[in-house]
Amino acid sequence: MKENPFIIKGYKSEKFFCDRFAETQDLLSNVANGVDTTLISPRKYGKTGLILHLFDQIRKKSLPYYTLYVDIYSTLSLEDFVKELSSSILETFPEKSSAGKKFLNFLKSLRPVFSYDGLSGSPQVSFAYSSDNDKVSTLKDLLNYLNAQNKPIVLAIDEFQQIAQYPEKNMEALLRTIIQNLHNIIFIYCGSKRRLMSEMFHSPNRPFFSSTSTLSIDKIDRDNYFGFIKEKFKENGLSISSEAIDFVLDWTKLHTFYTQCLCNHLFRRQKDITIDDVKASCREILNGESANYAQFREFLTPQQWKMLIAIAKEETLTQPTSARFLSKYNLGGATNARRMLDTLVEKELVLKETTKDRTSYRVYDVFLLRYLALEY
Ligand SMILES: Nc1ncnc2c1ncn2[C@@H]1O[C@H](COP(=O)(O)OP(=O)(O)OP(=O)(O)O)[C@@H](O)[C@H]1O
Ligand SMILES: [Mg+2]
Repeated sequence: MKENPFIIKGYKSEKFFCDRFAETQDLLSNVANGVDTTLISPRKYGKTGLILHLFDQIRKKSLPYYTLYVDIYSTLSLEDFVKELSSSILETFPEKSSAGKKFLNFLKSLRPVFSYDGLSGSPQVSFAYSSDNDKVSTLKDLLNYLNAQNKPIVLAIDEFQQIAQYPEKNMEALLRTIIQNLHNIIFIYCGSKRRLMSEMFHSPNRPFFSSTSTLSIDKIDRDNYFGFIKEKFKENGLSISSEAIDFVLDWTKLHTFYTQCLCNHLFRRQKDITIDDVKASCREILNGESANYAQFREFLTPQQWKMLIAIAKEETLTQPTSARFLSKYNLGGATNARRMLDTLVEKELVLKETTKDRTSYRVYDVFLLRYLALEY
């Protein structure tokens, strides 16, 4: 069977990557000018993909930078952060390369414990600390080591908002102080919690205030996504009607991950795709998820659940406290509705999008949105 061109995990190569020309250019320009970037978008729009695409472009164009990607989503403390950073360095600079050899020699001076991740087999490293200060100096040593390389390093830290959860309360100040002196590392801080990221980088009383250029990524341009989908089918000797593609893009609201999932599903049909195939795939996807989605009800109060369904039915909600909306779905008073809405946003079940003209709300997970609107 042919390789499915619609990937739903990570990054493969530019062939499978749609658009993001302007964003890639912006990032390349920031890198070339030594400007750090804060990269923000809702979940699953394609931040991680964009970073990996940037790194791929840096390699393809033989630009004079090392690239390093660290995902700190699962880290809970400074200690985890240091561990994740060193594991990424080990993975990026293979033992046999000269940079890898140098790094290993350097690491040995920090009294490391080496192991391998049981699942992925990737190298892991941890350190024996005698005090909290020890952790800070290990972090400093690691970053200073990176800073001293013969080429600048582009260091992307994914899910950066996570550091706000660490028990070390001064983590932001600490990092900022260390980073200020590292002129050979260009940072990309990436995150999906807009409020947390914004507070960190845009509040005057926070250490990272105004230290970076912000890049907010939006949905992929509709025409470009349309062309991409058509072309991927064509390259594989298959066709998909324009009507079918429009249906895909509407149904998934151009939310990258969901568009990719639906296209991946369609490609598996290995036939010329009509709108009826798309509708059948939509049904199959929702059937597959239904047991999972039914569980959501248990995490919410009956009123919150009712609110979630109401938002799903509206598709996009702009006036959540209007009499029309509240009475149509029997949601009670405005104050209470506002509170429920805030909770649903906090739980990341509802996406709040603010532009300069308006604030709107929609169910975050597009498949859940379609499921709720259909089932209730
Ligand atoms: N430009 C693109 N073209 C095609 N597929 C893409 C593109 N960008 C991202 N994807 C795919 O979409 C999915 C979601 O992208 P990605 O994981 O990069 O999003 P994210 O914003 O980092 O999400 P999260 O907030 O959950 O970390 C992935 O499967 C990825 O492979
Ligand atoms: Mg990501």
